[in-house]
Amino acid sequence: MRELGINKCIIPTAGSAGVALAAYCARASVHCIVVMPAHTPDIFKKECELYQAEVVLVDGLISDCAKKVNEINASQSYFDISTLKEPYRLEGKKTMGYEIAEQMNWMLPDAIVYPAGGGTGLIAIWKSFQEMIRMGWISGSLPKMIAVQAQNCAPVYAAYNDPINWKNSFHPKPSIANGLVVPDPFGMDLIQKVIYESGGDVEVVSDQAIMGGIKDVAKAEGILLSPEGSATWKALATLVEKNAIKRSDTLLLLNTGSGDKDPEMLSML
Ligand SMILES: Cc1ncc(COP(=O)(O)O)c(C=O)c1O
Repeated sequence: MRELGINKCIIPTAGSAGVALAAYCARASVHCIVVMPAHTPDIFKKECELYQAEVVLVDGLISDCAKKVNEINASQSYFDISTLKEPYRLEGKKTMGYEIAEQMNWMLPDAIVYPAGGGTGLIAIWKSFQEMIRMGWISGSLPKMIAVQAQNCAPVYAAYNDPINWKNSFHPKPSIANGLVVPDPFGMDLIQKVIYESGGDVEVVSDQAIMGGIKDVAKAEGILLSPEGSATWKALATLVEKNAIKRSDTLLLLNTGSGDKDPEMLSML
C-alpha cells in the first residue's frame, strides 16, 4: 500500500485478517477500518484498537460486514481488502505453500486438510504449488486439497454436492469456528476448481465435534488448536470412511489460529 501511495484501507473480517491488517497498518502508518461481527471474541477487537485501527461492529455475519464496508466506502476512497477482491492477500497466503514444501523437505504430503472460509488459503497454497513446479522447486504428484467447513455454515460443501441449487436450501448460522463462517465466498469458483483439480474433497464438522477436537489434541499433543484447526482433525474419521483419504496417506492439517484467542469458548470445554 505504501508503495502504491495508499494511506487508507478497509476490511470486512471474521477477526484474524482484521488483526493482521491492523498490525501491518500500524507499522506502515496507514489508516485502517476493520469491520467485524459484534459476536467476535473481544481480544480481536482489542488487538485492532491497540494497533490504532477503527473498529466497526456489525450485528450479523461477515457477509453483513461486507455490506457495511460497501456502505462506508461508497465513495471508494478506501483501498478495499475484501477477500480476493485485490491480488495481494492471495500472494501473501502462498507462503503457507512454501513453508509446507520447505518443512517437508520439498516432498509434499498426499493430502492437505484446510479449514476453508473465504478459501484464500486453499487457493493460494494450490497456486504456490503450481508455481513451484514451474520453477522446478518441486516435482511429482500434488496433494489432494481437502476443505473442511463448519456444519453451521458450509457453502463450499453445499456447492460441491449441489452446484446448481445449493443456495435455495442454505441457511448460515454462527459457529465457534468464526473464521469458517463465510456464507457466500467470493472465490467459490476458484475453491471448487482447486478441489476438483487436486482430486480433493469437502467435509463438515459440528461445533460440538470441534470442541471435542480441541480437548483431544490438547490432551494428546499439548497443542491448543483454534476451533478452525480442530475442524480439520475432527473431519479425518469421515474422510477415511468415505475413502477421500487412505490410512496410508501422508497428511498435513493446517491449524490456522490458537484456542487461547477465545477464552469464553475455552471455558465451555
Ligand atoms: C482462524 C481462521 N482459520 C481459517 C480461516 C479461513 O481462511 P480462508 O479465507 O483462507 O479460507 C480464517 C478466516 O478468517 C480464520 O480466521
